[in-house]
Amino acid sequence: MSYPYQIKSLEQYYEQYEKSVQDPEGFWSEIASHFVWRKKWDKVLEWNFEEPRVEWFKGAKLNITENCLDRHLADKGEQPALMWEPNDPENHHRVFTYNRLYEHVCKFCHVLANNGVKKGDRVLIYMPMIPRLAIAVLACARIGAIHSVVFGGFSAQSISDRLRDARAEFIITSDGAFRGQKDIPLKSIIDDALIGVDFVKKVIVATRTRIPVSMLKGRDVWWEDEFEKVETLGLSDFPAVEMDAEDPLFILYTSGSTGKPKGVVHTCGGYMVYTNYTFINTFQYQPGDVHFCTADIGWITGHSYIVYGPLSAGATSLMFEGIPTWPDAGRFWSIVQKYNVNILYTAPTAIRSLMSYGKDPLEGKNLSSLRILGTVGEPINEEAWNWYYENIGNKKCPIVDTWWQTETAGILITNLAGVTPAKAGWATLPMPGLQPVLVDEKGNEIEETEASGNLCIKFPWPGILRTTYGDHERCRTAYFSAYPGYYFTGDGALRDANGNYKITGRVDDVLNVSGHRIGTAEVENAINMHAGVVESAVVGYPHDVKGQGIYAYVILSGKHLDEEHTRNDINMTVSRIIGPIAKPDKIQFVTNLPKTRSGKIMRRILRKIAENELGSFGDTSTLLDPGVVEEIVQGKL
Ligand code: WT7
Repeated sequence: MSYPYQIKSLEQYYEQYEKSVQDPEGFWSEIASHFVWRKKWDKVLEWNFEEPRVEWFKGAKLNITENCLDRHLADKGEQPALMWEPNDPENHHRVFTYNRLYEHVCKFCHVLANNGVKKGDRVLIYMPMIPRLAIAVLACARIGAIHSVVFGGFSAQSISDRLRDARAEFIITSDGAFRGQKDIPLKSIIDDALIGVDFVKKVIVATRTRIPVSMLKGRDVWWEDEFEKVETLGLSDFPAVEMDAEDPLFILYTSGSTGKPKGVVHTCGGYMVYTNYTFINTFQYQPGDVHFCTADIGWITGHSYIVYGPLSAGATSLMFEGIPTWPDAGRFWSIVQKYNVNILYTAPTAIRSLMSYGKDPLEGKNLSSLRILGTVGEPINEEAWNWYYENIGNKKCPIVDTWWQTETAGILITNLAGVTPAKAGWATLPMPGLQPVLVDEKGNEIEETEASGNLCIKFPWPGILRTTYGDHERCRTAYFSAYPGYYFTGDGALRDANGNYKITGRVDDVLNVSGHRIGTAEVENAINMHAGVVESAVVGYPHDVKGQGIYAYVILSGKHLDEEHTRNDINMTVSRIIGPIAKPDKIQFVTNLPKTRSGKIMRRILRKIAENELGSFGDTSTLLDPGVVEEIVQGKL
């Protein structure tokens, strides 16, 4: 089987693009007609960016898992759906055919139902990258519960914030997680997160590392015991619960420039159509290909391009529990060889990190199965692009540079592998259906083709976020108010004479550290929790491997005896409040911060100092005390 809506040539891309803009409803309803719906839609699209309100496939009924599982059973039942490579290469890998994955998902649906989970309930999932994570996600979708996956690197405090925000009454976790040489005690972190929380009804715990865990009577149950009960009762099939196209499918928390992370909400119909369409077209997936996306399912990339996109396309998706540098920096290449990977989708930060080990880890690795390479999460520098192209792709694999966001569900701007031209460092052309614009500071759309500006989207696509959980007004102010009538991405971009886009990075106070999105305000709040800190200001600076590093300027109260100790304590505080990914790379102690007379911190200056651009700080006449800048420059790390 091939895909009727897979674009095969540049001409066809332009033709489809044109059609998608002229007749978006006709375009998307044609694509949607290739899915399984219990009931077709009454209306393809209703929208208004002012409120904002976006509804796709209005009135339609479906269950996304019937599209990811049931519909493939007849002709692909024995084909691998999910393959899994464990952290330790010496351990057994696992292959789930569509039949087997279906069976496990159905049985776990019974487990959920037996434990009281119903349609619309929120289920927080905090698990390692094991097949049971994908099974838990799909089982929630099948039963109509809203999953909220929290990346295994987040702290108890972060889990607690998300749990309370979503009021999730159910948790699925495991005893621990293996990551390289480390064991992470997930259940014990969940226990900490649950201190003082009284609304959680059940915690389902899968065994993985077998470290001792505390199991609270009445609340905590073992995945394996519950599964066995279901099997003893002879329960197998679980009928998928009928969902409205606009019913929420999941919540995924992501950072912004202010406040706590927001719960981005995606819905069943539009999310399904968009992730499937972008998967098939970007990666030019061919039946039988092995697709390896190295992201964690705790991020949107894993949701869309390990689970829902590939499975809805009947593809074979490979998931990896470990890290790229353990037991050595050749791990990805061993995996490519072991599974004959055809499509490899990873992050520039991983490429830069592996590049730093030189070519030795590539020695003796057969990478000839690779056909297509992809990157995601941050701009890719030319050196990394070339290394990836030459050493991994052997100069014959197109690289797709995919730009998108948690809020967009799927890829928005990218080249289509081997079909539309690549341009190193450029995400290139919009997906059909996507209408990007550049706006100037005043919010006017820039007409010239060659331009730079703030990147906005002026028309909805099926995967656009619908709301931020529990606070719709926050969704409006964060994304739809800076430039009324547009969705604002928070990114700056360049456009060339051919209409290609290059994403230059965030224009708001959001950092991108190793492809992870972190708000400066969030890090500042965490640093300020440290007992000895009076105030802090956080900015990003260019980092060779991480893309951006975190630079913190910190004012301490009173005397500090040992700077190194204080730095470590601050780092520990940030780890506890957010997670290790948010630890500052550099902490400079200062006695003052550059502020305007109205008390606003001039981050522009702090950014320049962190970037080592000490030449000119622009207009500093509004500074309350210009002497502060000189002192900070002197103490620069
Ligand atoms: C931000 C979104 C998309 C899934 C992973 C990150 C940056 C993402 C690219 C790219 C340049 C990129 C943007 C965006 N970004 N992809 N190909 N080139 N920048 O998802 O955590 O929601 O972060 O990542 O700045 O706004 P996220």
